[in-house]
Amino acid sequence: MKQSTRSLGELLRVGVVGVGHLGKEHARIVSGLAGARLVGVADPNRAQAEAVAAKCGCLAFDNPTELFGLVDAVVVATPTRFHHQVAMEALGRGLPVLVEKPITPSAHEARELEQAAARANVPLQVGHIERFNPAYEAARQTGLVPRYLRAERAGKFTGRSLDVGVVLDLMIHDLDLVLDWDSSPVTSVEAMGVAVLGGHEDMAQVRLRFASGLVADLTACRVSHEPVRRMQVMGSEGSVRIDFAAKTVEVVQPSQAITSGKLDATRLTPLALQALQQDIMTTHLERVQWTCNSQEDQLTRELIDFTQSVRMGKSPRVTGTAGRQVVELAERILAAMGEHCWTGKTDGPHGPHGLPAPRGLLLPDTRRAAA
Ligand SMILES: NC(=O)c1ccc[n+]([C@@H]2O[C@H](COP(=O)([O-])OP(=O)(O)OC[C@H]3O[C@@H](n4cnc5c(N)ncnc54)[C@H](O)[C@@H]3O)[C@@H](O)[C@H]2O)c1
Repeated sequence: MKQSTRSLGELLRVGVVGVGHLGKEHARIVSGLAGARLVGVADPNRAQAEAVAAKCGCLAFDNPTELFGLVDAVVVATPTRFHHQVAMEALGRGLPVLVEKPITPSAHEARELEQAAARANVPLQVGHIERFNPAYEAARQTGLVPRYLRAERAGKFTGRSLDVGVVLDLMIHDLDLVLDWDSSPVTSVEAMGVAVLGGHEDMAQVRLRFASGLVADLTACRVSHEPVRRMQVMGSEGSVRIDFAAKTVEVVQPSQAITSGKLDATRLTPLALQALQQDIMTTHLERVQWTCNSQEDQLTRELIDFTQSVRMGKSPRVTGTAGRQVVELAERILAAMGEHCWTGKTDGPHGPHGLPAPRGLLLPDTRRAAA
């Protein structure tokens, strides 16, 4: 991969395209990043571009084309439906790109970006930020071979990212992590989802089976009362529970007596069974909790990975290929979800918009008043 032509003593000139909720954070971080200089931001919302540029001390553009002529690398944080168009233009000019997740709404567009990056011989990185979560990194380093995995990701309604459904918006983070942890092919996909607010699905429930034997159950919701970002992974070696928001990992380590199959509770004397009940959680299922902190926040670490990849001409941690593979899996999930039949009859209502009409209110006015 081509190294940046900037010498090590020179600052890498970076531009950020799309400076809404997340793009303005990219701009803020790049403006303070060692070895980089934020040259400008571009956003069709001129007032937004100017406000962010004023805060970060850089130029403002309402169109990225002019900005592309002034920089060595580009961050794309537009709504997902514009990722392909903006990133293609940047890559076409030979500029390395960090594009927010999901790489594109379709695998077909993602493949085009991958090919454009290969032609230009520059890094293409995707913003799957949870890969930089220190809790995930710590869990990943335990050596656990996943046999069963369960992930839940729920957020309050933000009114953003409505150009895609919850699978491409939130579940995509966990799909990326599962593919990172188990690279064997996905052999079957079961999915159901509900479009609560019209448009795309807002809730999704998915079961994946892998050639390795791993079974993964994933839940995502973007109209939740309680935000949750958790994953539990189990295998012969034990289990880990990751809380992505709290950045904690809980490891349960089974004793040798358990892993070797020597402990058989059904054959113990009543006295021994009583003793086991007392010490099972300490002696046989020891639990350790870690709080995982890193010097920099996840977005900063992702941007450092990007600028270093550009400078050294190396592959970033989350490549365009990884981004495309996860969108391919999301497409299979959405296809399965579209076929989910709500009444058990193949000619019955299907898919995220097919949930049968309710029989009545769960909380009639009288009950609501009583509560
Ligand atoms: N990695 C994460 O955890 C994470 C979190 C939030 C959002 N995202 C991703 O970041 C992207 C942006 O999300 P957001 O929540 O910041 O959205 P947003 O709507 O707050 O911001 C998008 C910005 O892009 C601008 N824009 C629209 N079309 C444009 C174009 N053609 N060129 C340049 N700018 C354009 C808009 O004016 C707006 O300011 C999405 O792809 C989303 O999935 C990722």
